[in-house]
Amino acid sequence: MHAKYYSLFLLVILASPLCFAFTPSTGIPMPIQHSSAAIADTTSFVRGPTVNLVTNESALIFWRTEGVTNATVWYGLNTSVIESVVNTTLDTDHRIQLTGLEIDSKYFYKVSSNNTESALYHFRTAPPDGEEFKMIVIGDNRPASISYIQPDEFKQLAQMIIDEAPHIVIMSGDYVLDVSADDSYNLAGWAAFTNISDSIGHYAPIYGALGNHDTGAKTGTLRLQYYFDAFEHYNEPSTYFSFDYAGTHFAIIDTEIQHYEGRITGDQYTWLVNDLESSDCSIKYVVGHRPMYPLSHIGDSIDSNPTERARLQQLFEDQNVTAYICGHDHLFDRLTVNGLVHLISGGGGAPPYDTFWGDAYYHYMRINSSYSHVNMSTIKLNGEIGYNYQLPYLGPLEIAIRVLGNGSTAQTGTLPEIYFSEEPSQIYYSWDLGVNQTELTGLPNINGQHSLDVYALDSDDVWTHERFVLTTVGATPTTTAPPPLVLDPLLIGGIAVAGIVVVVVVIVFRRRQVPLSG
Ligand SMILES: [Fe+2]
Repeated sequence: MHAKYYSLFLLVILASPLCFAFTPSTGIPMPIQHSSAAIADTTSFVRGPTVNLVTNESALIFWRTEGVTNATVWYGLNTSVIESVVNTTLDTDHRIQLTGLEIDSKYFYKVSSNNTESALYHFRTAPPDGEEFKMIVIGDNRPASISYIQPDEFKQLAQMIIDEAPHIVIMSGDYVLDVSADDSYNLAGWAAFTNISDSIGHYAPIYGALGNHDTGAKTGTLRLQYYFDAFEHYNEPSTYFSFDYAGTHFAIIDTEIQHYEGRITGDQYTWLVNDLESSDCSIKYVVGHRPMYPLSHIGDSIDSNPTERARLQQLFEDQNVTAYICGHDHLFDRLTVNGLVHLISGGGGAPPYDTFWGDAYYHYMRINSSYSHVNMSTIKLNGEIGYNYQLPYLGPLEIAIRVLGNGSTAQTGTLPEIYFSEEPSQIYYSWDLGVNQTELTGLPNINGQHSLDVYALDSDDVWTHERFVLTTVGATPTTTAPPPLVLDPLLIGGIAVAGIVVVVVVIVFRRRQVPLSG
């Protein structure tokens, strides 16, 4: 399979005056004029080397050469890398498994094909189950317009990630602009991506969910070979899979199954239920591309089928999933629903979304995860921390709102979705400081700003209050008929009494005017 792509890739390179190559010091691709001498070098590295599928005692080293070569990995606990594994079978794609590694240790490695050596790289084996490891999450790095030019922001973030020396890297999808019916176009786009992702992959294993931009769904054929080629994953060619790392469970799910986009259903849902139920890890992460509670792609995400979303939310709650990690919205957001943390991290390079909610800035997430705590931060392009959140969460119950169009404006009658970080024992809602109601009603049928006060009682008997200001548009003017004439009983009584008094007065007056007869 890989040899086929390789041949197509060569055609692209030969046909184009502009291509990319690694700079050994940073791994970040630099555009170069391709010389015929470089093409003639049959042992130059087309991909990698990258370290993949790392456990606490093993790792898979992958690289690709332009021509068929033998393959050797040199590795060790110091830079002298005296141990080696040799594969004498000639090939272009090289996968060598390292086993018997020491737990939680920094290993150095380099590869050689025929007599050409790579630079020296390093990675860490996993720590003991439950102990802290550093995970980087990055999503939506894709180009905005030209397929083979990855955003500068992604290149900068990639170098920052390398400097972080993470144990593992998670990518939440949308790596390329699109996948067309033109293989040369696709190869150029994916090569631009893997040139950068491999620069990270020199130092840490990468696991990537499939994004909507990464398939050829619009062409009628998914063309998943490029996605499979970009990553070394467990259980390929499945687009959903799981693995354990340091006693933590990861389930990577596919929100892009053809004709079921944005849905987790059918065989995949059955697999996910079994997968989560059979895991006894106390920390579980599920990673997919589309959010369950989007801020921008509303109706274009897992929210598009509310019943299935509720089923998924319930599954994750029942199976003690720690967080659902996704992208698709080019921003950052953290929402906790009944103890399940939802992280949208789509700031990897595609243009950030301008949104009323959520923080739209280029970033990646640094998550330090162990059985005792999870510390999650967003890291901006300038290195500053944009957001920080920790588990276990010890603060008050949180109340959040979702669903309204751009975040503040909605059609009259729209029922906002209110979410609580834990199940409240009592809830009250009040529109425009009116009467407290136990049932939430839709936006008032009057255009303009409205306030919605929400009060919730948590398990510690502490009330939390949140006020949301929303703007109603599209209110229908009420054409009211004249009110029916309704007479007030008091008025009727008063009129009757007054009438009687008048009659009595008239009679008395007239009697006084009549002369007495004899
Ligand atoms: Fe997307």
